[in-house]
Amino acid sequence: MGRVLATTLLSCTLLLFFVPSFSHPLCIDSTAPFTLNSTLKFCSYNGSSCCNSAEDLQLQKQFQAMNISDPNCASVVKSILCARCDPFSAELFTVVSTPRPVPVLCNSTVSVNSSQSSQAATNFCSSVWDKCQNVSFVNSPFAPSLKGQAGLPANSNASKLTQYWQSETDFCNAFGGASSDGSVCYDGQPVMLNNTGTPSPPHGLCLEKIGNGSYLNMAAHPDKSNRAFFANQQGKIWLATIPKQRAGSTLELDESNPFLDLTDEVYFDTQFGMMGMAFHPNFAQNGRLFASFNCDKVKWPGCTGRCSCNSDVDCDPSKLEPDAGAQPCQYQTVIAEYTVNGTSSQLSLATNAKPTEVRRIFTMGLPFTSQHGGQILFGPADGYLYFMMGDGGGTGDPYNFAQNKKSVLGKIMRLDINSIPSAEEIDKLGRWGNYSIPPDNPYKEDRELLPEIWAYGLRNPWRCSFDSERPSYFMCGDVGQDKYEEVDLITKNGNYGWRVYEGPYSYTPPESPGGNTTPSSISPIFPVMGYSHSDVNKEEGSASITAGYFYRSTTDPCMYGRYLYTDLYAAALWSGTESPQDSGNFTSSEIPFSCAADSPLPCSLLKGSSLPALGYAFSFGEDNNKDIFILTNSGVYRVVSPSRCNYTCSKENATTVASPGPSPSNSRASQLSDPYSNLVLLFASLLLLLLGFV
Ligand SMILES: *[C@@H]1O[C@H](CO)[C@@H](O)[C@H](O)[C@H]1NC(C)=O
Ligand SMILES: *[C@@H]1O[C@H](CO)[C@@H](O)[C@H](O)[C@H]1NC(C)=O
Ligand SMILES: *[C@@H]1O[C@H](CO)[C@@H](O)[C@H](O)[C@H]1NC(C)=O
Ligand SMILES: *[C@@H]1O[C@H](CO)[C@@H](O)[C@H](O)[C@H]1NC(C)=O
Ligand SMILES: *[C@@H]1O[C@H](CO)[C@@H](O)[C@H](O)[C@H]1NC(C)=O
Ligand SMILES: *[C@@H]1O[C@H](CO)[C@@H](O)[C@H](O)[C@H]1NC(C)=O
Ligand SMILES: *[C@@H]1O[C@H](CO)[C@@H](O)[C@H](O)[C@H]1NC(C)=O
Ligand SMILES: *[C@@H]1O[C@H](CO)[C@@H](O)[C@H](O)[C@H]1NC(C)=O
Ligand SMILES: *[C@@H]1O[C@H](CO)[C@@H](O)[C@H](O)[C@H]1NC(C)=O
Ligand SMILES: *[C@@H]1O[C@H](CO)[C@@H](O)[C@H](O)[C@H]1NC(C)=O
Ligand SMILES: *[C@@H]1O[C@H](CO)[C@@H](O)[C@H](O)[C@H]1NC(C)=O
Ligand SMILES: *[C@@H]1O[C@H](CO)[C@@H](O)[C@H](O)[C@H]1NC(C)=O
Repeated sequence: MGRVLATTLLSCTLLLFFVPSFSHPLCIDSTAPFTLNSTLKFCSYNGSSCCNSAEDLQLQKQFQAMNISDPNCASVVKSILCARCDPFSAELFTVVSTPRPVPVLCNSTVSVNSSQSSQAATNFCSSVWDKCQNVSFVNSPFAPSLKGQAGLPANSNASKLTQYWQSETDFCNAFGGASSDGSVCYDGQPVMLNNTGTPSPPHGLCLEKIGNGSYLNMAAHPDKSNRAFFANQQGKIWLATIPKQRAGSTLELDESNPFLDLTDEVYFDTQFGMMGMAFHPNFAQNGRLFASFNCDKVKWPGCTGRCSCNSDVDCDPSKLEPDAGAQPCQYQTVIAEYTVNGTSSQLSLATNAKPTEVRRIFTMGLPFTSQHGGQILFGPADGYLYFMMGDGGGTGDPYNFAQNKKSVLGKIMRLDINSIPSAEEIDKLGRWGNYSIPPDNPYKEDRELLPEIWAYGLRNPWRCSFDSERPSYFMCGDVGQDKYEEVDLITKNGNYGWRVYEGPYSYTPPESPGGNTTPSSISPIFPVMGYSHSDVNKEEGSASITAGYFYRSTTDPCMYGRYLYTDLYAAALWSGTESPQDSGNFTSSEIPFSCAADSPLPCSLLKGSSLPALGYAFSFGEDNNKDIFILTNSGVYRVVSPSRCNYTCSKENATTVASPGPSPSNSRASQLSDPYSNLVLLFASLLLLLLGFV
């Protein structure tokens, strides 16, 4: 009786929490799989895998200790253990965030024609049951546990599946899972994604101009309203209301009334200024906001921090030669915390923030005057603050900071700003400010890494974003040196190669007082997308990526799920398509773009000129509707329906029916579109009638 109860509880837990994670190839510990230089002896994986030879040996020992006498069962259990080496092991073994002892076994109730073997795929779970139900083995991974799926108590006595599970249904309720919903399951073979073929790129991207201001950052209001924050490089943040699509109106933003004005603190120059802002995920409840900016310690002693060129990284600040006249580490990078000015019950109504700094999160002196990123972002899945930092400048990262595990330059940091240690502790630990270290940062596995570091080997991460539908897709553009602009898929402890590599090409710096890293000592992760400087501009050096977002709005259904990015100088936009879905394999193509004839603000593209058509594209933004914005020096542009530019998108009119019709408005554009949508509705009803749905 007790056993039956336990079984029922376990099944419920697994069923309740089973949601597909839709991730690219990723290992159980959240790191990227690596390329094996030889086939694993026991698990026989070759190519991309999550196991090295030591882990392979470990699995072999675990398997031998099970002492499975029946060869059919032994072979299937071996394949299940070895699924840990599959490049998709994170998705196979993880239900929400808890790793399971065994992968999700493809279940009999789901009929799937897997690309490899449709037979195995349709009944792998029941085949495990058939082969193993009466076989005894030690330390069974199939033993249930009331304490959740991880850390099962090892049962050193040999046991049969039938001692834990009453029937195949019982067993497959607990361990089975689907693959038809797009998530992967284990069918006895290495995971193969369904190759659906590469859908052709969209015919074009239609834009409207809704603001004239020049902004560097945009962040949707965390209260999910139709408002967003815009910040300029000089140091002002405004709260703006985003107009509805097709309303014909512009961004409502009062230039004279900023939400927060930090221009007195911010040091502004071409490569300096307010580089980032982030609003706490619970901003609507706690009013916490963060600004990332540069400051000059000579003008403001309050911005003095430790120099990033220091003895820990074999760098002597007195030997630095920053721009003429500047002191070593005169310019700093800072993350400062502020709070809204409002009563706690009505924080969403607040229209400004208090200009007094609540707390300094981070302060560090910069070695040179360029490439210091500065974007900050909260991870949607973990709530930690990601801080993007460039290599600090100088041609070819002369001090090799990006590869130096003791430097935070050329890194993506991941900080916990919710638990702040005491001042003494921060001092003792040699931290750069008031934050703590998330317990699963990669220094736990690689003791050489500074605890702040999440990923490294970057030159100047220029604009990162998380896919709003698949948080494991953390994408960053990384600005190149001479040849190549790249988009990287950032994973825990990933080394993105700079300056051993620039994109996929090996790189030799003109001078290297800080020494070199040999190519054979690292396992770089190469970009998933990018372009050569020669593709966009014949003039050497005049390219700089501005990376963007996975497009997740329904406004342009032909862009849905594609990754959009551009270049600061080039009159070009690229759309990246992943194929197969969730494979991490992208192809990108340049897509045409133009302005809607009914754009609320006049929007003239400089077509055919060598100048950027929209002005210099600094950044992208995403609002709470998931609409995408391009922030340029000539204004704010929004991606709109392709039909407004006469681009054909066969999916567009279908979506118009499904979504609530255009909002009422007296603009000319919507008057024109209204009779049309009625026609669409009529047509759709007819279609439904014909198909027998009504
Ligand atoms: C495979 O890589 C390991 C280290 O990652 C190295 O020790 C070994 O020599 C390599 N084997 C071959 C055949 O290259
Ligand atoms: C990996 O294994 C497969 C099947 O055993 C084989 O066809 C393929 O050539 C191997 N690839 C490499 C790189 O060894
Ligand atoms: C393995 O199983 C055999 C019987 O199948 C048994 O004789 C032997 O003692 C077992 N070994 C261990 C280490 O449990
Ligand atoms: C699935 O595979 C079976 C046998 O190979 C085939 O007859 C059937 O048409 C396939 N179904 C689909 C939906 O592809
Ligand atoms: C397992 O044992 C049960 C009960 O002894 C028996 O009915 C069943 O046929 C056996 N199954 C297999 C696959 O041997
Ligand atoms: C293993 O079997 C022995 C003897 O039957 C029993 O005393 C012990 O509690 C069992 N251990 C576990 C973990 O079930
Ligand atoms: C697996 O299949 C069994 C029937 O064989 C079904 O009862 C169970 O709900 C399925 N489990 C999952 C997770 O799909
Ligand atoms: C595989 O692709 C076919 C058509 O290409 C589709 O019908 C099927 O649903 C896909 N299966 C999965 C598991 O995505
Ligand atoms: C990656 O995508 C390209 C273009 O769609 C395709 O030709 C190639 O086979 C894909 N590679 C893998 C490993 O799926
Ligand atoms: C805070 O808001 C109140 C009421 O709106 C206003 O009077 C006050 O000046 C604001 N304080 C700051 C520092 O902006
Ligand atoms: C789209 O086509 C219509 C009719 O041919 C034309 O009036 C309109 O200007 C075109 N719009 C754009 C953006 O080219
Ligand atoms: C969709 O609607 C637009 C007008 O809004 C029209 O120009 C376009 O041709 C339609 N596309 C299709 C595929 O019907």
